[in-house]
Amino acid sequence: MRILLTGGSGDLGQVLSTELDSRGDIPLRLDVRTPMDDRGLYVEGSILDRPLLKQSMEGIDCVVHIAAWHGIHEFRQEKDVYNFWDLNVTGTFYVLQAAVETGIQKIVHISSESVQDWSGIYGHTKVLGEEMVRAYAKRHGVEIITLRPRAFIPYWNKTVYQSFVEWAKWFWSGAVHINDVSQAVIQSIDLLARQSISAPLTLNVDGAYEYTAEDLSTWDINGASTTFKKHYGEYYDMAVNYGLDPAEKPTILDITETRQWLGYEPRYSLRNLLMELEQFGAEGPPMPTF
Ligand SMILES: NC(=O)c1ccc[n+]([C@@H]2O[C@H](COP(=O)([O-])OP(=O)(O)OC[C@H]3O[C@@H](n4cnc5c(N)ncnc54)[C@H](O)[C@@H]3O)[C@@H](O)[C@H]2O)c1
Repeated sequence: MRILLTGGSGDLGQVLSTELDSRGDIPLRLDVRTPMDDRGLYVEGSILDRPLLKQSMEGIDCVVHIAAWHGIHEFRQEKDVYNFWDLNVTGTFYVLQAAVETGIQKIVHISSESVQDWSGIYGHTKVLGEEMVRAYAKRHGVEIITLRPRAFIPYWNKTVYQSFVEWAKWFWSGAVHINDVSQAVIQSIDLLARQSISAPLTLNVDGAYEYTAEDLSTWDINGASTTFKKHYGEYYDMAVNYGLDPAEKPTILDITETRQWLGYEPRYSLRNLLMELEQFGAEGPPMPTF
């Protein structure tokens, strides 16, 4: 399949391009910045360039709409409200409209769990993006799967995380590994390819957890860190030495529907993180090759 990835040079685009390329698909990466690897095909440009966007969609089987300013850009105040609106709202409208005009029926839309935080500009633009998706599905019959991942910036993105430990501190409170997000996107592409979706799907994307629902509802009822020790007792001293807090309770998203629709089963959990920390130390595993 030929898959258009808007914002395909970013973190998710890079992981996805590698996986799609490896299995014989052709990722077409439309982005304002050049990718750091040579997987797939690169088209330099903006989704706000309407003629280029339509041209990029010719002969495409499925669009994965990734391009957006996100939480880190709001948190660091790197982008203002106009930037957010232009890329996330106008850009999403252009992608949907270009798809209709070029006859593309299948779209995977990357939203965010930040729709819950709709009073912020990022969350608000993602709410509006999802609203447009529902309208285009209804009005034009476009088949769209919206994924709502929680934060997934990878540990190798050194503009955000200086070290693996820093990333681990963030992952600690509940998170999803970028490889699991990529897995969910590819499963969505495959679902759209093999069957029709009569109504748009909206699916949460979270990581794997050893903690059970009961662990969470009775968190540390027997004393601080006892729930952590129940699952990862052998890592307790190491975690504390790295400044991680074993008493911190993670939040977990409901991925029941994601499992049902996509067969999604996240692979990376807190146990994986602890094993990598033990094996590689504060610097963490080497960056994957793309
Ligand atoms: N990273 C996260 O933690 C996270 C969490 C939940 C949801 N999301 C969503 O995932 C998507 C992005 O994820 P990412 O981590 O790959 O982000 P990223 O910032 O690494 O990549 C985004 C890419 O979009 C490109 N881009 C910017 N303006 C563009 C334009 N006008 N036209 C085309 N491309 C443009 C950027 O150059 C960049 O390569 C967004 O939709 C975001 O809302 C991200």
